[in-house]
Amino acid sequence: MQKIVEVKDLCVKFGSFWAVKNVSFSVNCGEIFGFLGANGAGKTTTIRVICGLINATSGEVIVDTEHFLRGKEDIIKAKVGYMSQRFTLYNDLSIKENLDFAAATHNVSRKNLRQNKEELFELIQLNRKESTLVSELPSGIKQQVALVAALIHQPKLVVLDEPTAGVSPASRASFWELIRKLTAMGKTVFVTTHYMDEAENCGRVALMRSGELIAMGTVPELKQETFSEQMYNVTPKSSEAEEKCQGLAKLCTLFEPCGIHYHVILRDESSLSLFQEIAQVDKINPSLEDVFIQRVEHAASTPTP
Ligand SMILES: Nc1ncnc2c1ncn2[C@@H]1O[C@H](COP(=O)(O)OP(=O)(O)OP(=O)(O)O)[C@@H](O)[C@H]1O
Ligand SMILES: [Mg+2]
Repeated sequence: MQKIVEVKDLCVKFGSFWAVKNVSFSVNCGEIFGFLGANGAGKTTTIRVICGLINATSGEVIVDTEHFLRGKEDIIKAKVGYMSQRFTLYNDLSIKENLDFAAATHNVSRKNLRQNKEELFELIQLNRKESTLVSELPSGIKQQVALVAALIHQPKLVVLDEPTAGVSPASRASFWELIRKLTAMGKTVFVTTHYMDEAENCGRVALMRSGELIAMGTVPELKQETFSEQMYNVTPKSSEAEEKCQGLAKLCTLFEPCGIHYHVILRDESSLSLFQEIAQVDKINPSLEDVFIQRVEHAASTPTP
């Protein structure tokens, strides 16, 4: 499998704080690679190194066979389209002005700019005038225009840092439709998100915790690796039953509240009937959210011995 990003033993230190600790992974050409983790896990810091915006303290980053060496930044930046977590577009400029600016920063010729815009407006099905001020765009469309800005120089790799934060569920779904279309166009997508339902769409995902990479694989692999036993969705039949269910938690290796339900894994399947007496019990496959809670959140709250 051809690799477009290789990160080897990456460390990033801010003052005396290690934001990224010995992280190694690679991204294959053409895949959607999800980079997940709680707030402050080191995702954006890793991305900023990959995009050539900050230097690693130590370690190696290779983008499309180019090593990160002083003087090579421009070659690498030409290969990467970056949509940052906080800043996407200038609100007080029009769509056209923002795209002209993005094109200028990447030395895109006028002819290529015209062609690329045409292709990318078609991709996002833009139905606004180019003279529209960005401040007048709904957040979902603003993010799509920001994607166009990130793609304006036709990069091979698209790095999206929480592209759907703060947009409506319908717009999130449309944005992921675009991500899929990008891979169909031959691009590789490296994306972070806090929405685990979105991350289910990734080919492979990496989980970060406190600056360390703690797991990586396809979504089914991570589910299997985290939960090898049958998981059940348990819905207590009454509030009295709910209390009884909680009393049965000691019979479980997993007893996770999930809205009005519990996600449960039994120590011994023979205790299933105890739950069935007081609750609706259904076999379920674990979700990526279950994996995330188990591997990232619970592990973070468990003190290390
Ligand atoms: N320039 C900086 N100087 C000092 N500390 C920093 C700097 N940038 C990031 N950090 C710290 O490094 C850690 C990792 O931050 P980072 O932004 O990479 O996390 P993240 O995984 O992207 O989090 P989020 O999901 O909130 O975006 C955090 O504790 C953050 O406060
Ligand atoms: Mg971040």
